[in-house]
Amino acid sequence: MKESFRGDLLAGKTTLITGGGSGLGKAMALRMASLGAKVAVVGRRSEPLQQTVDEIAAAGGTAAWSSADVRDSAAVAAAFDAVEAKLGPVNQLVNNAAGNFLSASEDLSDNAFDAVVKIVLYGTFNATRELGRRLIARGAPGEVLSVVTTYVHTGSAFVLPSATAKAGVAAMMRSLAVEWAAYGIRLNCVAPGPFPTEGAFSRLLPGSEIEKQAKRRVPSRRFGEHHELTSLVAFLMSDASPYQTGDIVTIDGAEGLFSGQQFAGFAHLDRAMAKEMMAALKPKK
Ligand code: COA
Repeated sequence: MKESFRGDLLAGKTTLITGGGSGLGKAMALRMASLGAKVAVVGRRSEPLQQTVDEIAAAGGTAAWSSADVRDSAAVAAAFDAVEAKLGPVNQLVNNAAGNFLSASEDLSDNAFDAVVKIVLYGTFNATRELGRRLIARGAPGEVLSVVTTYVHTGSAFVLPSATAKAGVAAMMRSLAVEWAAYGIRLNCVAPGPFPTEGAFSRLLPGSEIEKQAKRRVPSRRFGEHHELTSLVAFLMSDASPYQTGDIVTIDGAEGLFSGQQFAGFAHLDRAMAKEMMAALKPKK
């Protein structure tokens, strides 16, 4: 990938990323560090967090890690303390940690619903409140970005806890965008469509046939590439977007629009053949 941003786009930012040891969180950590942010990765398992920090350091960046389960507000506060001791005050947060699995909703146990909602909704609240308290106490501005999903607008069958919790996250970001504007804190969401990661694809798109079907729902018939998402994230977290707040920015190659458009299937036919078919339907003069 050829870098299209200046290398100091995120200079002066210290960004805590939950779930930053793997998948999209790791991709964001590496990219943001390469653009000058000091990056803190927080998650449950120390090994991938350490690995991410090592990769950032090897590339010349600055990073630290601390392990915490975002469901535990005291652990989240302790993680902020630990990384601030190494990097200085955190002024940005990416709420990326998530949990999800496919299940018929009538089969969900109390614990199953709880696990996903606690990670996604409570985890986002715990980390966002923690950053907010610290920024407000210091009188410092800051940025929060929460990773939601395209079904945040529609709900989704078979991932009910995630759909419910992500809608709550979007409402949280929009509420705080108004409430915390007075403190100079911007909050946005990105809503990605399919971006391949081991964690999400093994749980949600198991098997090559299902993956192929998923690709067919994207007009360009390809999944997103991590750098395409991290470019959007870097822009939204930078000082290049000071008026952008309370927004949900979709990045899905128009997958959501394709799924909702009655005649979208024609886009996948050979274009000459589709035109011939349409011409044949035109009444003759
Ligand atoms: N279908 C139905 N129920 C499931 C399930 C599935 N595929 N996977 C887990 N559960 C249930 C468990 O059975 C348990 O309920 P029970 O005690 O009534 O049996 C409950 O969910 C909690 O599971 P547990 O494994 O103890 O929780 P955890 O906190 O260790 O894991 C998850 C949380 C379930 C969200 C797990 O998938 C996870 O850690 N995910 C993180 C990564 C991820 O999901 N990435 C993709 C993001 S898009």
